[in-house]
Amino acid sequence: GLPDRVRIHEVGARDGLQNEKSVVPTEVKAEFVRRLAEAGLSTIEATSFVHPKWVPQLADAEQLFPMLGEIADVGDVALPVLVPNERGLDRALALGARRIAVFGSATETFAARNLNRTVDGSLAMFEPVVARAKDAGVHVRGYLSMCFGDPWEGAVPVPQVVRVAKALMDLGCDELSLGDTIGVATPGHVRELLSGLNDAGVATGTVGVHFHDTYGQALSNTLAALQHGVTTVDASAGGLGGCPYAKSATGNLATEDLVWMLDGLGVHTGVDLGVLTATSVWMAEQLGRPSPSRTVRALSHK
Ligand code: HMG
Ligand code: MG
Repeated sequence: GLPDRVRIHEVGARDGLQNEKSVVPTEVKAEFVRRLAEAGLSTIEATSFVHPKWVPQLADAEQLFPMLGEIADVGDVALPVLVPNERGLDRALALGARRIAVFGSATETFAARNLNRTVDGSLAMFEPVVARAKDAGVHVRGYLSMCFGDPWEGAVPVPQVVRVAKALMDLGCDELSLGDTIGVATPGHVRELLSGLNDAGVATGTVGVHFHDTYGQALSNTLAALQHGVTTVDASAGGLGGCPYAKSATGNLATEDLVWMLDGLGVHTGVDLGVLTATSVWMAEQLGRPSPSRTVRALSHK
């Protein structure tokens, strides 16, 4: 069976823009988030409170986040932000963030490259972040990268992923997002990982999926996850994205491609595909290159 409704966790403004060569002006980012909210997206990841030298594209978080207050108030839109450590949490809390995401790795190589820590060292870094966030009533998502394959280490064994996923939940995360950072997953592997998590006591209801479309498998993987009971799916408007610290990571699953499939299946998302496509066409103009989303191309072709 399939769920009646899917919550789309929109990551274009964060996962998308963090990987752009050009730095997008803060006003354009704010306009992007505003238009995503108008399209009906209710969870829009806004930015990251990471070290500005590591991700210069999002170094304007202090300027951007306050510009979004109006959207959160008017439309009841959740605006989660990435936070790697206590310094990031301090910055996010100072601006009134109500939802944060920590981001761990299932592999040592990516933990070192993305967080300058070992896997367990990064969990130790997150521990006080999650504890303090929970004390402040802030919702915490735990991303887990390299859940299927790693560009340096190859295929990642399910038990290795399950261990770190369980550790993130044990820290107190409210939800998990399983990242296929480089887009190598296939549907059978998705089912295997979700079952492995269930066997370890991680309920499917707390798990979201985060697919990149490198090998064109993101939609098939999503369908496999939905059939397993997953109801939270990460996607990026126009298929923007990648990851600056993972070679061979291309864009995320495009939100338009996801909505096209879910509309066809009669699964409710609350998203207006026309408004969303117009937003991605506009963003592509800002970035000076066409959207890689097949659905955006098809719907905007005259
Ligand atoms: P580090 O160099 O080990 O940092 O980096 P540190 O703890 O040693 O601190 C060094 C200095 O940085 C200190 O300053 C800190 O205050 C400062 P000093 O005392 O020397 O003057 N500092 C900060 N400043 C501002 N904000 C902060 C912050 N933290 C420390 N938050 C660190 C460790 C985690 C900071 C660094 O590795 C980092 O920022 N990494 C972020 C990388 C990133 O954002 N990657 C992309 C997101 S993950 C992703 O895209 C995958 C995902 O989409 C899922 C998927 O597809 O798999 C989520
Ligand atoms: Mg990603």
